[in-house]
Amino acid sequence: MKKILDLISEELKNAFEAAGYDGALGKATISNRPDLCEYQCNGAMAGAKQYKKAPIMIANEVAEKMQDSAVFAEVNAVAPGFLNLKIKEEFLLSYLQQMRADEKFGMDMPESPRKVVIDYGGPNIAKPLHVGHLRSAVIGESIKRILRYCGHEVIGDVHLGDWGLQMGLIITELKERHPEWVYFDESYTGEYPTDAPFTISELEEVYPTASGKSKVDPEYKAKAMEDTFKLQSGVRGHRAIWNQVKNVSISDLKANYDNLGVEFDLWKGESDVHDIIPGMVEFMKAGGHAYVSEGALVVDVKEETDTKEIPPCMILKSDGASLYNTTDLATIQERMETINPDELIYLTDKRQELYFEQVFRCARKTGLVTPDVKLVWLGFGTVNGKDGKPFKTRDGGVMRLENLIKETTDEMYRKITEGHSLPAEEAGQTAKIIALSALKYGDLSNQIAKDYVFDLDRFTSFEGDTGPYILYTIVRIKSILNKYKEQGGDVNAAMLQKAVSGSEKDLMMLLSRFNASMESACEEIAPHKVCAYIYDLANAFNHFYHETKILTEEDADKKAGWIAVLALTRDILETCIDVLGFSAPERM
Ligand code: ARG
Repeated sequence: MKKILDLISEELKNAFEAAGYDGALGKATISNRPDLCEYQCNGAMAGAKQYKKAPIMIANEVAEKMQDSAVFAEVNAVAPGFLNLKIKEEFLLSYLQQMRADEKFGMDMPESPRKVVIDYGGPNIAKPLHVGHLRSAVIGESIKRILRYCGHEVIGDVHLGDWGLQMGLIITELKERHPEWVYFDESYTGEYPTDAPFTISELEEVYPTASGKSKVDPEYKAKAMEDTFKLQSGVRGHRAIWNQVKNVSISDLKANYDNLGVEFDLWKGESDVHDIIPGMVEFMKAGGHAYVSEGALVVDVKEETDTKEIPPCMILKSDGASLYNTTDLATIQERMETINPDELIYLTDKRQELYFEQVFRCARKTGLVTPDVKLVWLGFGTVNGKDGKPFKTRDGGVMRLENLIKETTDEMYRKITEGHSLPAEEAGQTAKIIALSALKYGDLSNQIAKDYVFDLDRFTSFEGDTGPYILYTIVRIKSILNKYKEQGGDVNAAMLQKAVSGSEKDLMMLLSRFNASMESACEEIAPHKVCAYIYDLANAFNHFYHETKILTEEDADKKAGWIAVLALTRDILETCIDVLGFSAPERM
């Protein structure tokens, strides 16, 4: 379906042409004076110079051509030359009717869908998820869903940090504690045990200890480097213990992401590309891009137009070890070979900006990707506490993601049970659903690159620009629709009617902008645009609701018309929260 703004612009274009002017002047925008009109066109002002005519004269002539328009109920030319427009209700109704009949509410699918890989999450093995991982997971999941809804093929990859020195550190520490484990007996040739010799909580304590020791004890660090080397070169016991670490850690990560409603298609990691690194290095050397500098293998990535210093991309350290960017580059190569995407999107902390600039330049320069492949890095801002500093627990520690979810859920539980008598089990589940909306909406309603303040009180409020407010609105609509059914009404058969009040038309106008809002969120990779749209939509609905006694209306057609608007509002709100990555309960 064409967008309503485009249909309006088409009508204007025809009128400009009929009056003898350039049709391109007929562009509509949403009115910035909603008290005067719904849409406006400033084309007469833009054309004044070209036609050497007062803009108001042009506007009058164009307005004249639209007196019998099927689109506009009112067209007013006002000084100094604006066209103020009001939409004909029949036109709006037929548009909404088509939306209701369309599975995607008027969203057109792209002629050539793109194949996109999103690299998000980025957790590290054996380290708990903390508040810093919230944004990557929540934003990435939403981008994935928005792009999919808009008809693109999207593959989400968690890209685990599961290789490198941190793995060596864990092995060293486990060996110090349990030298008797069969994994560390290099003469052992039998099968290794299937069950892991540790739990996730034991594991989580191992890494910080090891990392702490390595900072003060050079000998310990040397052992960790040796264990890293042994792991990477394929020593059996090292690989076996590392697999146990990975398995225990991945099942814990899966449970945590599951809790957050975040789902990855691929659970690949840095380690998966280990074997293709030598080939990639050869390819970069053969292309004449990689050379040895002070023992290390590097690729220059600076460009003449640079205003700041962009250091070379280091591919291999002088001891031949690979680095963070080596695995990222090899992963690009692997994705091109196995998936062949049109676009790669990365979501990380804002601080990795320079790093991704280097990686992308290196990938392009060395020919790992062809020029038509789009490489996009999105850096997200920090989650801060009310003091404006990175969010911490009450005693100043790093906030674990599970605790953050738990605290939010507890607060939500308190709010929904206060003065209400929901059965405990339902209250628990509902609190979880609403808490997720609070966390995700609180995050997604901000522009990706901006920092935001995690404000539990505000995020969990049922009023204002929050997830719970949106859910509350959906539940309110559902309850009216259910009561309508109980009265014997058929929601699906309800036919739209001309608006009776201004607030009803306002709501209808917002509904008609769904496809344009979703499309711009997709094109600009901006989930906050979906949030802004549903906040306006929820406000418009609530305004209408407070003015209208829907269920007690005696005129059956009028009532059915309202029900039809409500059903469409519910469907669109639910579609939007689904792409944001949360859902609404039946009641709350
Ligand atoms: N594991 C990394 C870290 O903790 C984040 C990974 C981001 N993704 C990537 N392809 N580099 O910083």
